[in-house]
Amino acid sequence: MYPASPMSGADDLEAITGSALADVAAAGSLAALEEARVRHTGRRSPLARLLASIGSLPPEERGPAGRGANAARRTVEEALAAREAELEADELGARLAAERVDVTLPGDPEPSGSLHLITQVRRDVEDIFLGMGWDIADGPEIDDEYHNFTALNTPEGHPARSLSDTFFVEGHPDKLLRPQTSPVQIRVMETQAPPVYVICPGTTYRRDDIDATHSPMFHQLEGLAVDEGLSMADLKGTLLHFVRELLGHSADIRLRPHFFPFTEPSVEVDVLWTDRHGRPQWLELLGAGMVDPNVFTSVGYDSERWTGFAFGMGIDRVAMLRHDVPDLRLFFENDLRFLAQFP
Ligand code: PHE
Repeated sequence: MYPASPMSGADDLEAITGSALADVAAAGSLAALEEARVRHTGRRSPLARLLASIGSLPPEERGPAGRGANAARRTVEEALAAREAELEADELGARLAAERVDVTLPGDPEPSGSLHLITQVRRDVEDIFLGMGWDIADGPEIDDEYHNFTALNTPEGHPARSLSDTFFVEGHPDKLLRPQTSPVQIRVMETQAPPVYVICPGTTYRRDDIDATHSPMFHQLEGLAVDEGLSMADLKGTLLHFVRELLGHSADIRLRPHFFPFTEPSVEVDVLWTDRHGRPQWLELLGAGMVDPNVFTSVGYDSERWTGFAFGMGIDRVAMLRHDVPDLRLFFENDLRFLAQFP
């Protein structure tokens, strides 16, 4: 270090301060102000050098010289802070003015998507059952043979298996894509004591050739009620209410005897509804029946005490019916000209 050059105190200090304040006032931008800050208060500034030189003054001069220099530094720092605030305000104002957005200009329209028709119909069906106090349950799409068949009163070798034992997983002879959502009902009963009122919507898979009303992948919604004293009257009343909520209050249903392994007696349910040309039509919509006591036994329910009914419908079929869609394949081809008709 060189020895500090001798300073003559007050005069120098006044000159230094004056030049600093002038530069600060003249700074026209935050960048220029930063330069002034370095020049006048930085380590190599005259003010810093003056402060450093105080130690080499005769002891009696140090006190007054130190106080003077410190006061000068405060003055300069206050001026810097004040100018900085001014410049910031100016720059913000300038930016706001430059970036002003005219909110009254028309915007660029964003194409907005919508739910797929199948999703819409599934939610509508769910809402009807939620309105009756039912729960919704979900389960695996790939499940084992036990939940798909055995627990549903369809033991190995039962002829009803061959209609739907399809799409097994390679290397896992026990696992298959579920042909119906009934395994979810088994899983619900395995984890929950009666009473049960539950619907199970989901994707299902069958060995079907694709045509206007069939697809190897489709959507199902099954329902299960377990309680004391349930009868076919409860089944019919529930389905009638459901169909009228879905299709309007002039809709009616009829039950035809049928066979399902897991229900006894079993029925197919046709719906009488009025199409858009005003013509009444019967259409098959559901499979249903009273839960077979063997199903209760396989989940550990007391089949002497509990009774139940179950039903299953194709959501895709419901959507076709309700929206007059002539071909199931339209749901999967994802042609926007079709999908956009159901916003
Ligand atoms: N699982 C049957 C089907 O896929 C429908 C059904 C469900 C029938 C529940 C009776 C009881 O066709």
